[in-house]
Amino acid sequence: MCGIVGYTGNQEATPIILEGLRKLEYRGYDSAGVCVIHSGRAEIRRSEGKLVNLDKLLATAPVNGEIGIGHTRWATHGRPSEINAHPHQAGSIIVVHNGIIENYLELKERLTGLGRTFKSETDTEVISHIIDEKFKETGNFEQAVRNALQELRGAYAVCILCENDPGVLIAAKQGSPMVIGLGENEYFVASDIPAILSHTREMVFMEDGEMVVFSRGKAVFSTVAGEPLEKKPRHIDWSPLMAEKGGYKHFMLKEIFEQPRAIRDTIAGRLMEEDGNVFLEGVKLSDGELAQVERIFIVACGTSWHAALVGKFLIEEHCRIPVEVDIASEFRYRNPIINDKTLMILISQSGETADTLAALREGKARGAKNIAICNVVDSSIARESNGVIYTHAGPEIGVASTKAFITQLAALFLFTIRFGRAIGTIDRDKGRTMVSLLIRIPALLDNVLELNGQIEKIARTYMHARDFLYLGRGINYPIALEGALKLKEISYIHAEGYPAGEMKHGPIALIDENMPVVIVVPKNENYEKVASNMEEVIARGGLVIAVCSEGDEEIRKKAMTTIEIPRDSDDLTPILVSVPMQLLAYHIAVLKGTLACKIGKIK
Ligand code: BG6
Repeated sequence: MCGIVGYTGNQEATPIILEGLRKLEYRGYDSAGVCVIHSGRAEIRRSEGKLVNLDKLLATAPVNGEIGIGHTRWATHGRPSEINAHPHQAGSIIVVHNGIIENYLELKERLTGLGRTFKSETDTEVISHIIDEKFKETGNFEQAVRNALQELRGAYAVCILCENDPGVLIAAKQGSPMVIGLGENEYFVASDIPAILSHTREMVFMEDGEMVVFSRGKAVFSTVAGEPLEKKPRHIDWSPLMAEKGGYKHFMLKEIFEQPRAIRDTIAGRLMEEDGNVFLEGVKLSDGELAQVERIFIVACGTSWHAALVGKFLIEEHCRIPVEVDIASEFRYRNPIINDKTLMILISQSGETADTLAALREGKARGAKNIAICNVVDSSIARESNGVIYTHAGPEIGVASTKAFITQLAALFLFTIRFGRAIGTIDRDKGRTMVSLLIRIPALLDNVLELNGQIEKIARTYMHARDFLYLGRGINYPIALEGALKLKEISYIHAEGYPAGEMKHGPIALIDENMPVVIVVPKNENYEKVASNMEEVIARGGLVIAVCSEGDEEIRKKAMTTIEIPRDSDDLTPILVSVPMQLLAYHIAVLKGTLACKIGKIK
């Protein structure tokens, strides 16, 4: 996730672009850059780190001009560095991009064959080269963009300038957000409303496959294929604060609702549907090396540890290799039995958690192979591990981990397919089925998010409880732990997560008519066992909130309330069930007034 801004009009472009980028820093903040065209010359300034570094650079090396583009980056391909920062120029074409180009390696190979050289490690540089290639063929900037965009697979929102057509700005969108602001003889482009809200409230929302050409004070909308379009502006009356959170009340809610997009980004460019396999560029181990693995350790902290527990179920079920899950702060201080036949998987959103990093170092010192699952590109764990699967969730600003968690689950699912295919426990047909499950997740998540209103009502009913119990079994037991952690973390209500079958060995004594018990009871092989655990809770007067499969009449009859999720593969249930857990904790925290925000101390 990155932020892009474009401007063309009668004012100096740079301050407008910088102000926009500042409002988009929530989308990324590891490097930034601008390009302004003046007297037919493109002036580019880029710097690593937060936007303030770009401000400083521009103070010493200013750029002037009334047409320009800018970018704030959250790295996906290529570490955060000045060289990888946008804009990227090839020949006379300059591009800023938000999204992921799935076929960039294939295009890069072709362009390299044509004698082109690449300066960065990004997928975006491919876009500027391919447009420049087409520009050389056609001599027409607009046509070159159209031809080039039709060769891209994946997601993009792009702003493009051309030194040889210096009065023209082109913007286009496929899969990544883009809004156009209409001013008095001026136009604005941005990834999101807050970036341009101080300049105009008349906005046009771009749809996938659409493009706009700004030239000679006019904006002409069309499809990328060239069909003319009539686009109607909408008046936006949000307050600036509302706009910053995308109209949501809190960043946490925004991030919960962003999860279908986050999962799309995690899997983008990685699925090989035909082959029933996945492509994980960052996993450097060959099939032969993976086949030597006799045991896996997954090591992590907090929410990432809960993801690790789900990973154990996935890998053991589909790859039949023993998996141990360890809390990093425990692992590093004991004497783990690991060797060069051990594969360690380190999970960390930030890639900076000291205990997880120390566990990685410990494992390396003992000769274990390793792979990291991280969100933050080029973080310490990502750098020091031998391979990494980035989750591409985008910066996490809400106080509690939400999208980071479910993208970790998706990354573990990707790894399971890759590993199982490598060692032969997953054949092509099974691989294809598993890949198709991943493709289904975003739409299923959209369905689950529709439960938001119902979950808010449930939160109102139970917000005054002093304690909560969360129960689940099998692959959903870690989600009970995660549900309890979310509630504790943001609402300050004491909550315990337990394997449902373990309840009778102690916690059952706590259950009475004041105790809400959230039970994850989807229709799977454990269904009857969990349903009978639910009966035990009911018998003691516990207030059952059952997270069950859609239309489960039996559970409806027995539970105090049900939250019903779509019925799908058992492997996907943890991802789907996580969402009601997040929403319940969120609404209770809002109602109690305990929700904070970690902006400013972003990890
Ligand atoms: C905690 C966070 O401090 O660190 C959790 O509150 C997180 O949300 C945990 O899961 C581990 O962090 P990371 O970055 O290693 O996943």
